Amino acid sequence: MWGGRFEEGPAAVMREINASIPFDKRLWQQDIAGSKAHVAMLAKQGIVSTEDAAAITEGLTRIAAEYEANGVPEDLTLEDIHMVTESRLAELIGPAAGRLHTARSRNDQVATDFRLWVRDAIDMVEPALANLQKALVARAEEHAASVMPGFTHLQSAQPVTLGHHLMAYYEMIARDRSRFADARERMNRCPLGSAALAGTGYPIDRHATAAALGFDGPTNNSLDSVSDRDFALDYLMSASQCALHLSRLAEEFIIWASQPFGFVSLSDQWSTGSSIMPQKRNPDAAELVRGHSGRITGCMVALTMTMKGLPLAYSKDMQDDKPPVFEAHDLLGLSIAAMTGMIESATFRTDRMRGLAEAGFATATDLADWLVRDAGLPFREAHHVTGRVVKTAEERGVTLGELPLDVLQAIDARIGEGCFALLGVDASVASRVSHGGTAPSEVLKRIAEAKADLGLQA
Ligand code: ARG
Repeated sequence: MWGGRFEEGPAAVMREINASIPFDKRLWQQDIAGSKAHVAMLAKQGIVSTEDAAAITEGLTRIAAEYEANGVPEDLTLEDIHMVTESRLAELIGPAAGRLHTARSRNDQVATDFRLWVRDAIDMVEPALANLQKALVARAEEHAASVMPGFTHLQSAQPVTLGHHLMAYYEMIARDRSRFADARERMNRCPLGSAALAGTGYPIDRHATAAALGFDGPTNNSLDSVSDRDFALDYLMSASQCALHLSRLAEEFIIWASQPFGFVSLSDQWSTGSSIMPQKRNPDAAELVRGHSGRITGCMVALTMTMKGLPLAYSKDMQDDKPPVFEAHDLLGLSIAAMTGMIESATFRTDRMRGLAEAGFATATDLADWLVRDAGLPFREAHHVTGRVVKTAEERGVTLGELPLDVLQAIDARIGEGCFALLGVDASVASRVSHGGTAPSEVLKRIAEAKADLGLQA
């Protein structure tokens, strides 16, 4: 396709390092759509005849059917998806095929194809994340009042509810969805017609091709258009942050599924056995979600490094933009689906969670708060008194609520009967009614809003 001034063909290794068809064949649908929009515009502008345009369009439709049925042929001598398709078009319709590339370069062509692909990718991630949120909300509603220990430093801190904990991940995924939506809106401008780098002298209509491909309009600077990969980076950065959230959630499940915790039992569908230890039920899917997040972030870093030293406009380094995006997209899709399935089918051991919430002196803050509110102590002093109460309970091997009043009053005479009502874990969580707090009433309020946002029945 570019051999006019060359006498010798490329070396075998040159061919291999140059070829992107093994991976960019994934762009075939977007490439055909872009070419169809381009040739329709060329005909409308009188740049190619309507007969040639019709032959080209028909040929492209046939090629799409061939790719659909048999896959894209990986001919390394033809380099990439653009040339593989154009050369097949020439076989099918003859010399008129050569008119398709008028007023276009592979530089604006690939920039357009790849934008279309990333836009489609976002449109696939979006409903998958909504499904994950639905799973979280359903389990959170079921467990809006199930008490579990809340942790800081992975030490029992204060009782919370499982519903509250799960809804924390709902919020993270909501931010992920808004990041993807934001990336989609920003990228939705069409680079087609920027040609190699400087624009073109043909009387093209960039607004028409942009509209035909569902873009909000054309990009504004031809140099930027062919060298910009921000849209791919936006996707990868959104994917990395989303994967980070999935990894944290996966980590919770891994900890919760361990025997010392025993908070959750993963369904058979989402566990694997050990070939040597018959008692094992391993949370492999969760571990792989945690692992995949590292690879997804690696993809984001890879493209950032590829782009950071490139002068304007196109450089061939940019051909390396696609593998990390494809890889991240595949890994993210699997991770979202796996977490959704795991959450939907998990059995939460609420008795075990409640037992550990009670055992960890998790209501110590409630006693301190009672001493402040009802006995008038300054918080620092209340904190100190409560510390002595915890120590005593620990020595006797009982919970705070099980200490007799005379023992409590021996520690501090100002402690009264009234505090017992607050030392239970249910009273503790029920009292935390501040906006966004763990009280079941608050959690249910947020769940109702979430269900409305997700289009679910109240
Ligand atoms: N396969 C190339 C890529 O993905 C297409 C653009 C080639 N442009 C060029 N001037 N060699 O980047």
